[in-house]
Amino acid sequence: MEFSIKTLSPEKAKAGCLVLGVYKEKELSAPARRVDQASKGALRRALGDLPGKAGSTLLLRLPGIAAERVLLVGLGERREFAEPAYRDAVRGAAQALKDLGAKDAALYLVDLKVGNRPLSWNVRHAVLGVRDAFYRFDQLKSQKKSPPPALSHVVLPLTENPQLQQALAEGTATADGSALARTLGNLPPNICTPAYLADEAKKLARQYKLGVEVLERFDMEKLGMGALLSVARASHQPPKFIVLRYQGGAKGRRPLVLVGKGITFDTGGISLKPAGDMDEMKFDMSGAGSVLGTIRALAAMKAPVSVIGIVPACENMPGGAASRPGDIVTTMSGQTVEILNTDAEGRLILCDALSYSARFNPAAVVDIATLTGACVIALGHVASGLFANDQKLADELRAAADDAWDRVWQMPLWEDYQEGLRTNFADMANVGGRPGGAITAASFLARFTRKLRWAHLDIAGTAWKSGREKGSTGRPVPLLVRFALRHAGKK
Ligand code: BES
Ligand code: MN
Ligand code: ZN
Repeated sequence: MEFSIKTLSPEKAKAGCLVLGVYKEKELSAPARRVDQASKGALRRALGDLPGKAGSTLLLRLPGIAAERVLLVGLGERREFAEPAYRDAVRGAAQALKDLGAKDAALYLVDLKVGNRPLSWNVRHAVLGVRDAFYRFDQLKSQKKSPPPALSHVVLPLTENPQLQQALAEGTATADGSALARTLGNLPPNICTPAYLADEAKKLARQYKLGVEVLERFDMEKLGMGALLSVARASHQPPKFIVLRYQGGAKGRRPLVLVGKGITFDTGGISLKPAGDMDEMKFDMSGAGSVLGTIRALAAMKAPVSVIGIVPACENMPGGAASRPGDIVTTMSGQTVEILNTDAEGRLILCDALSYSARFNPAAVVDIATLTGACVIALGHVASGLFANDQKLADELRAAADDAWDRVWQMPLWEDYQEGLRTNFADMANVGGRPGGAITAASFLARFTRKLRWAHLDIAGTAWKSGREKGSTGRPVPLLVRFALRHAGKK
């Protein structure tokens, strides 16, 4: 699917389908008004059938214009029109274009005023919204349900300029990166193993000329990654420690490090999870997927920033060789951990990866992890949990999240919470009690990042959807790409 920006008057556009916005109470957007005039009021007469809700659609054929068809899209109340309505309108339009098999379209939603956002924001979110709606994962169905979607060209009718072209490139690259993260998440755990993730990283390295290194169990032993290895013990899938480097920034500048939790399946281990919905623990590598997707996006758009992706990848299985509750392991940092619950494995692999990240002298380290069910209870499926030991870094991530509309909510990392991890037998336990579970998990990680500028994103509630719509969301790739680009823009 290709997008292009060009000046195009709605009544003369020869597109297969014009997409026009209409507010509630039959208030037309500017391009819709022009089409209404050209069609001698036929558009307005048809409006009765359009429910005003943002994202609702109505397909028309109108006289007096060059386009074959017109897709009207509800924008909701004019007074309430802002980011959510714009995004709903784009998605609603995309869904309708998909259903009707349109081949090319002109999306006259992009010049709407969305709060205080510049047009480049509209462009990015138009591309992301359309691409998101057209994403498919049917590679494992023996009979394809329907032919592949037809939409091959989308015009964004705006006066072209370098900023908008840049936004278009960013939107496209982000959509590709996000699709990669989604596909890795959606792949079943018997295919998307630690070795598969490592191969994927090597493929990206070849494609985009990135540096890549995959450490094996033996290398991890030499580094003293006792916590990571304790999680991988019972699996027949060998663990992989993936390091993928994109150097787009100036030589002397410190890189960003992104660390993604790569548990390709989380059974809970000896602290076995209940059977219901356990299949969803294939998504427990979503942090890893988002790191690979983000690096892909940045490399594809040749972003002027250096990013190192680190993915500790393994499987959390029960078995004769598995870690037991009560086992004490020594982490790469030298600190010891009593494993009281083998299902709190994410922090065990991340702590060693965070220790490893220090060798890159990073400007900042951000880890991304489907870390706790408690975070889902706290924030639901809307915001990812944000924790940081540096408020400026937290603010940068919050700003990027707002810009990307891939939102986060900051939670506290006060020392008071460390008390929960106390144990008589080691430096710390790997779990506290149930209260504040997302915070004690973050507090555990904080003990391994004291010398770093560090933030942690708990994406347990946002990385995938359950139920009928079950599938990976690709979050927080849009946030991470925006964050890296904004970081690149600063001195
Ligand atoms: N991968 C899970 C977290 C998770 C659970 C994400 C459900 C999304 C939905 C993580 O490894 C885990 O099992 N966490 C435990 C921690 C507990 C044992 C302290 C949890 O959240 O129950
Ligand atoms: Mn777990
Ligand atoms: Zn897990």
